[in-house]
Amino acid sequence: REISSKSAQIDKGGHRHFMVKEIFEQPTVLADCLTHYAPGDAVVIPEGSVDFSRTDRLILVACGTAHYACLVAKYWFEQLAGLPCDVDIASEFRYREPPVSEQAAALFVSQSGETADTLAALRYATGKAAHILSVVNVAESSIARESDLALPILAGVEVGVASTKAFLCQLGVLANLAILAARQKGRIDARREAELLHTLRSLPALINQSLALEDEIRRGTRALARAQTILFLGRGPMFPMALEGALKLKEISYIHAEGYASGELKHGPIALVDKTVPVVVLAPRDALFDKTISNMQEVMAREGRVWLVTDKPGAAAASDGVWKTLTMPQVDPIFAPLLYAVPAQLIAYHTALHKGTDVDQPRNLAKSVTVE
Ligand code: G6P
Repeated sequence: REISSKSAQIDKGGHRHFMVKEIFEQPTVLADCLTHYAPGDAVVIPEGSVDFSRTDRLILVACGTAHYACLVAKYWFEQLAGLPCDVDIASEFRYREPPVSEQAAALFVSQSGETADTLAALRYATGKAAHILSVVNVAESSIARESDLALPILAGVEVGVASTKAFLCQLGVLANLAILAARQKGRIDARREAELLHTLRSLPALINQSLALEDEIRRGTRALARAQTILFLGRGPMFPMALEGALKLKEISYIHAEGYASGELKHGPIALVDKTVPVVVLAPRDALFDKTISNMQEVMAREGRVWLVTDKPGAAAASDGVWKTLTMPQVDPIFAPLLYAVPAQLIAYHTALHKGTDVDQPRNLAKSVTVE
């Protein structure tokens, strides 16, 4: 009820659906979010303070798309700050009752701030972990209120049930937090911090460029809409993006989709591949590119139809024989997940349009899950 009364007050701004309106708002909301956390050459947490210098473990807990934002952030916290991370699904964490040390920080990510399992997980960690942090869109939510420090993502109201702009802003806040942790742990100097922030700040413009690929994506999705199963593959931080691409697609088009780590393909999902199975490969030209491409070739050898989402150097190196190549702008691979969220969202959206499903209100799903 709360969602529908809110949506009545907010219009679609000339777009056909809230989802696509929110996808196109991403360059603006992300830019605002990044400026809020890093107005200059250093991360500043305007809401309060957090100190990771003595933290020896970060526990990240969430549900759905927010959980995938945590999986991406694990790469950042581990690579930039050398901070080991445990990422959990809230409904698993709360009942497994894992040990939580006093040197650990626990971080809960939730668009609504009201997801029952995430709130219960937060309550379990309270009094055990040194810090209880949250990353939320709704600043007055229960999860925000019960945290030591609640960091707003500043995405504005999100109406589409399948999260898009909130996911991107969650990544924006988590990236800043990882940079802050890296500085506090003495892993980066001021120059490197400024460089990382500069890369982050380049993203809204690159996201804008990738939104211009919408028509190309729309044409490609006609064939996807006829598929029974679609696989998404990625390595490194592109692995959680493959999970997110598959989740988005199944949520709104009702087509069965699975995201897999490219290297895990041979341990099961390759058995599914034949000429009826489209495989979306998310592969910017990064250090693991050649490995992902060799997995992609295993798919092609079994007649799987590959849709390669890459950048210019990647397209030049690996487009031979693929069904489709989508050439994205180039970005530092570490923050590529923020950019590759866009084709993942637009592939889901346009596939769903071809199928004629209710994109903003998919069957059986709710925007905010406040019961177990
Ligand atoms: C629901 C929504 C998802 C969302 C998840 C977690 O399943 O449909 O889009 O990712 O809940 O919600 P939260 O508000 O905690 O981020």
